[in-house]
Amino acid sequence: MANYKKGLAFGYMQGTKYHRDRPMSDNLGAIPSPGPFKHYPDSERIPLPQPDLSQSINLWDCLAKRRSERNTAPDPLSLEELAQLMWAAQGVTARAGGAFLLRTAPSAGALYPFETYLYIDKVEDVPKGIYHFNVQDFVLERLKEGDFNRAFTAAALGQPMLSRAAVVIIWTAMMLRCMTKYRDRAMRYIPMDLGHVCQNIQLAAVGMGMGSCPIAAFYDDDFNELLAVDGEEETVIYLITVGKLNP
Ligand SMILES: Cc1cc2nc3c(=O)[nH]c(=O)nc-3n(C[C@H](O)[C@H](O)[C@H](O)COP(=O)(O)O)c2cc1C
Repeated sequence: MANYKKGLAFGYMQGTKYHRDRPMSDNLGAIPSPGPFKHYPDSERIPLPQPDLSQSINLWDCLAKRRSERNTAPDPLSLEELAQLMWAAQGVTARAGGAFLLRTAPSAGALYPFETYLYIDKVEDVPKGIYHFNVQDFVLERLKEGDFNRAFTAAALGQPMLSRAAVVIIWTAMMLRCMTKYRDRAMRYIPMDLGHVCQNIQLAAVGMGMGSCPIAAFYDDDFNELLAVDGEEETVIYLITVGKLNP
């Protein structure tokens, strides 16, 4: 067998296939659920303004203009613009079965097995720092105040768009939230879910005259440390930078 077929990528895809004649079995035992939402009850909260859904934006135009933009301008975003982006990413649009908060982006089993963090560098009237996005209450929860430009850029392999961006949005995979239902197959679904969320941000950014760039090349544990997550049950998986376009 070719060596590349013995590696993690092939092993994972082969080992997590569904087969008609036999169920997927594993030795994972009971998997505790971390619950559908993470909160930071002791943090300072910054409520996000309700999004303005009356703005008319041409979807075809946004699709045609979407690009990964690495050279964003130094201008700050307004809090309204940031709120609009967060709503595009994870706005709650319906309730199902009481507890499920359905969102702007689909998610396997409606589990939304990720958490959203922000490094805010340039947003009017919002102190620089690291925040958690509380999807239920549509508020930002401040985790650390300060300028983390150098640390975030270094953690993303020195990619310069991190220090140019007004905001870096960071997603962690909440492994157990998905594994309780999908067991080992969960790692197929978490990146798919986040692809939808990220594309919503890219399209909304275009519609609002902003540029964004998805990023998956980074030192995982540097980001986990910056966000103070354990890097196992919750681990950073994807980022996107957003900023105003240069004239
Ligand atoms: C999963 C994923 C990871 C990416 N990671 C990076 C990255 O780390 N750095 C970067 O500059 N661009 C990154 N990109 C952006 C791609 O380079 C970009 O989408 C591709 O070149 C196509 O260009 P376009 O998005 O402008 O159409 C990533 C895109 C995706 C979807």
